[in-house]
Amino acid sequence: SKKLLVDVDCGVDDAQAIMLALAAPNVELLGITCVHGNITVENVCKNTLRVLQACNKLEIPVFKGAAKPILGNSLNAGHFHGQDGLGDAPDPNAPGLDLVQKEGAVSAMIRIVNENPGEVSLVATAPLTNLALAVRMDPSLPSKLRGLYIMGGNTESRGNTTVCGEFNFAADPEAAYIVLNDYLCPTYLACWEFTCYSKLSWEFCDAWLAQDTDKARFMAQIFQHSIEVSQSKRFQKEFVAGTGFISCDSYAMAAAVDDSFITESDHYPVSVELTGTHTRGMMIVDTVGFLKNARKAFIMKKVDMEKFKQMMMAALK
Ligand code: BDR
Ligand code: CA
Repeated sequence: SKKLLVDVDCGVDDAQAIMLALAAPNVELLGITCVHGNITVENVCKNTLRVLQACNKLEIPVFKGAAKPILGNSLNAGHFHGQDGLGDAPDPNAPGLDLVQKEGAVSAMIRIVNENPGEVSLVATAPLTNLALAVRMDPSLPSKLRGLYIMGGNTESRGNTTVCGEFNFAADPEAAYIVLNDYLCPTYLACWEFTCYSKLSWEFCDAWLAQDTDKARFMAQIFQHSIEVSQSKRFQKEFVAGTGFISCDSYAMAAAVDDSFITESDHYPVSVELTGTHTRGMMIVDTVGFLKNARKAFIMKKVDMEKFKQMMMAALK
């Protein structure tokens, strides 16, 4: 079976990605590490536990990580994910934070990878603070990973958070820089524009949520707020041509779960802009060969959308 370790800032699409992984055959989720991002790290832990409860998987360990980026203050995406990060549809029976492991996320990441050298695929669907701290504590960590799958960055300087910054990179540019430069392992990126071009239709979403299961009812509740924001004229106009839902984080997860999911990718040196009037946090793709020392990553271009829809359907079964 495939061993996954997942780093999240559990908003709505992180929840969808986690559920996709939990439903995938032959996948073992070794743990979920939490980090600031869509909402505070405490809320991220709460939301992650709620998702695990909805899937009857509370035995999967949840670890609390960094509360802030390496420099500066946290961002927040409550306008999209809801003020609690999960659609503002509270559950009175939600599990308490006492279920979070005592061990911190960065230590857990290092320990779990070292216990399973060469076997763990690390999936990051959040600001990369935990990953950056982990590689500073254990520089050998990337060489022991099977692969790294990231939702983040952008390829056409189209931002969703700053004029040309994607949320996960813009929320901690230094961490994104460290991870892209220092994780010497096969690295796959689901960048913002790619996810925009790979939207799920609203017809699909309706059929997805109409499944007669507790998981589908849970998803319908936490998803409603983001559906409304995504369907608003302003969102459509600002970010994406064409209508539909962008489950950003699920693309990185699907790639980690199934090796044949990515059907076409670019392989270019990548880096992150750390200064600039408008460009801090923007991903740089070197298509020409100027960045002699930068590391190459696989940038997703085409994926098997039929497979994606099947994995998403299975997530709520
Ligand atoms: C990313 O930002 C977050 O709001 C989403 O969960 C996703 O990880 C998209 O830019
Ligand atoms: Ca996320």
